[in-house]
This record gives sequence, structure tokens and C-alpha cells, in this order.
Amino acid sequence: MTLLYIPLILIGILLIIAGLLILADYLLGGGGDRTLIINEKKEIPVSGSDTLLNTLSDNKIFVPSACGGKATCGFCKVRVDEGGGEIKPTEEPFLSKEEKKNNVRLSCQIKIRENMKVSIPEEMLEAREYKVEVVKIEALTYDTNLVRFKLLEPSTMEFKPGQYAQLKVPGIDIIRAYSIASNPKNTNELEFIIRMVPKGQATTFVHKALIEGDKIILTGPYGTFYLQEDSKRDMICIAGGSGKAPIRSILSYMKDRGMKRKVKYFFGAVAKRDLYYTEEMRALEKEFENFTYIPALSEPAPEDNWEGEVGLITDVVDRHTEDLSEAEAYLCGSPGMINACIDVLNKHKIKEENVFYDKFS
Ligand SMILES: Cc1cc2nc3c(=O)[nH]c(=O)nc-3n(C[C@H](O)[C@H](O)[C@H](O)COP(=O)(O)OP(=O)(O)OC[C@H]3O[C@@H](n4cnc5c(N)ncnc54)[C@H](O)[C@@H]3O)c2cc1C
Ligand code: FES
Repeated sequence: MTLLYIPLILIGILLIIAGLLILADYLLGGGGDRTLIINEKKEIPVSGSDTLLNTLSDNKIFVPSACGGKATCGFCKVRVDEGGGEIKPTEEPFLSKEEKKNNVRLSCQIKIRENMKVSIPEEMLEAREYKVEVVKIEALTYDTNLVRFKLLEPSTMEFKPGQYAQLKVPGIDIIRAYSIASNPKNTNELEFIIRMVPKGQATTFVHKALIEGDKIILTGPYGTFYLQEDSKRDMICIAGGSGKAPIRSILSYMKDRGMKRKVKYFFGAVAKRDLYYTEEMRALEKEFENFTYIPALSEPAPEDNWEGEVGLITDVVDRHTEDLSEAEAYLCGSPGMINACIDVLNKHKIKEENVFYDKFS
């Protein structure tokens, strides 16, 4: 008989725990009404216990968030002028001493538990949400696809060559950053070069589920990695894998504008099967008088019959590079590749302020 009461007692305990959790959330600010003030202008009423990043996004303010709030990209920085609590351990690796002094925080790590005031740079407020339709998917290699989207609503996006957009994976609502690979003159269609990451959530969706005609959501444009248009410096570009995407946008823009800057472009791959757009780059060399394309393979297969550059991209860059004290560098690819390339560029006396990069983390 007493055994019959055990499930009832357990349910009672669970209800009490749930009640205590709700009460704790309320007392910590999760249930009350608060106000978020942006740039001393826009006032947003807040209820619930979402993060600052998500609250901004719900109100159509799209702060860059390449990792989708996992505290691994460090892109979602805003200045907190009031509220926000203490800096969390997850924020520490991304904040410099100067940023901490200026109350810069990762918006994905802050819950709005009290009234808050934040400052967001005006250029960040330019990012919008776009409904887009897939109009072309093309395999560039065994693991890399070109995906072209037509912008439906709004129907155009202005962006700088080198910038990126964020793709929202429907259903699981995760967000990932992808550099725009097309020429900024095409404001109604955007191209992306997306490389499959084994077991990757977004890339599995793009490679295995996305088909022509699908409609999804993008936000953008984002990023401070873009062509320095007013500069006349010689350029050295280095990319690996899908890092070719933003460099392609930069080069096609420069060709269209008749820019005469000298450009040396190093592209690192493992074997011949990882190369793509070689023809396009060779054609560009003919049309764009000061442009040189140097693909390099780190482990060419015997059947590749490769007669081009062999070795790690850092060694190839080192061999082909002289004094860079007056040059500008554009780097794109994995964080490890970029860090190693910066060491080589430093050896050739590049100035820190002339190095621009996007780490595909
Ligand atoms: C500014 C910016 C621009 C970017 N532009 C591009 C682009 O143009 N094209 C492109 O393909 N990618 C680009 N990326 C990378 C992209 O945002 C995703 O990180 C990548 O596609 C993996 O996402 P996922 O959801 O499939 O993998 P996840 O589910 O996030 O990761 C699955 C696992 O794979 C590991 N992993 C994640 N990324 C990689 C990787 N690149 N190589 C090896 N292992 C990895 C993770 O640590 C994790 O263990 C860019 C990133 C940034 C920050
Ligand atoms: S969104 Fe990536 S660290 Fe905040």
C-alpha cells in the first residue's frame, strides 16, 4: 500500500524543485520587466531570461556572432555602460586589458537580469536579416560546394569585398559565418564557398540537405576584413581551403575597378583534388596585369603529376617573398594557418597595421 505513495511523493518533490527554480530565476531577474537602452536612443522592454545577443537579434539588431553564442568566436562584443554583472570566465580569453577597462563584453554571455545600457558601433547596426532562395549549388571539389543565393526580401545587400554573412540553419537554429565569395556589384545574388566539416552541423545541412529552391535566412553584412580601397600598397593574399571565398570577392572587385595594385596570391591545399577555380585564377592573371596566382600543394599525390609549388604554404610564401615593409596582407583560413603565416610575414618586416585576416574558427 505504502509503495503506491512513492510515485506521488516523487512528483511532489519534482514540483517543489521546479517551483524553487522558477522563483530563483524570477529573483535573479528572469521574470520581471526590464529595459535595455541602446546608444542612449533606442529603448527595448525586456522580459524572460534570454541573453543580450538574442534579445538584440529579436529586435532586429544583428551583432556578429559567428559561433552562434558558444563563446568561441569572440565577435559579439558590445560596450556595456550599465548593468550586465561581472565578466564571466568564458569571456576572459577574448577581452584585452583595454577592453575590460572600457566595459567591453561578449553579448552572448550576458543575461539581462536588470536594466541595461549598451553602446553598439553604428556600422554594426547596418546588418539586416534577408530571406534568400538557393538558385545554384555546384560541387567545386569532393568536399567544397559553391552555393548561390538570390535575395528575396530585402532584394539587395550592399557589402564590402571580404565581408561575411551569417547563415541560420533552419530547425536547429544554429548560426555560422560564411564569407561572401562574389563580386559586391551583384547586390541581388550572393555566392558562398562552403567546405564540408565532418560531423559539422551547418556544413552537413548545406551539403546533405540544402537543395535549389530552398528558402532560408541570412544576416549581414559583417566584418572588418575587407579591401582597403584607399591604399596603393602592393598586396600579398594567402588562403587555404574555403578561405579562397573572400579573396575571390576582393580580386573580382579590383579587376572590375581597373585597380593597378600589384597582387601576389598564395593558395594552400593538400593535393590536386583540393584545388578549385584554378582556371578562373589563370584567366584573371591574363586580365589583371599585376596579378600572380601561386597554388601550392603540401602532399601532392603521385597521380597528380604536379609541377607547381610543393610544401607548407608558410614555406612557399617565405621562398617567394622579399621585403614587405610597404605591403599589405590579406589572410583567410584556419586559425593555425593564419598564425603561422603572420610569423612569416613578420620575418619579412610587414607592419602590424597592414595585416588583415579572418580566422575561420
Ligand atoms: C568570419 C568567418 C568566415 C567564415 N567563412 C567561411 C567560408 O567562407 N567557408 C567555409 O566553409 N567556412 C567558413 N567559416 C567557418 C564556418 O563558420 C563554420 O565554422 C564551419 O563551416 C563549420 O561549421 P559546422 O557547423 O559545420 O561545424 P561545427 O558543428 O561547428 O563543428 C563540428 C566540429 O568540427 C570542428 N570544426 C569546426 N570548423 C572546422 C574547420 N573549418 N575545420 C576543421 N574542423 C572544424 C569543431 O571544432 C567541432 O569539433 C567562416 C568562419 C568565420 C569566423
Ligand atoms: S557569439 Fe561567438 S563569442 Fe559570442
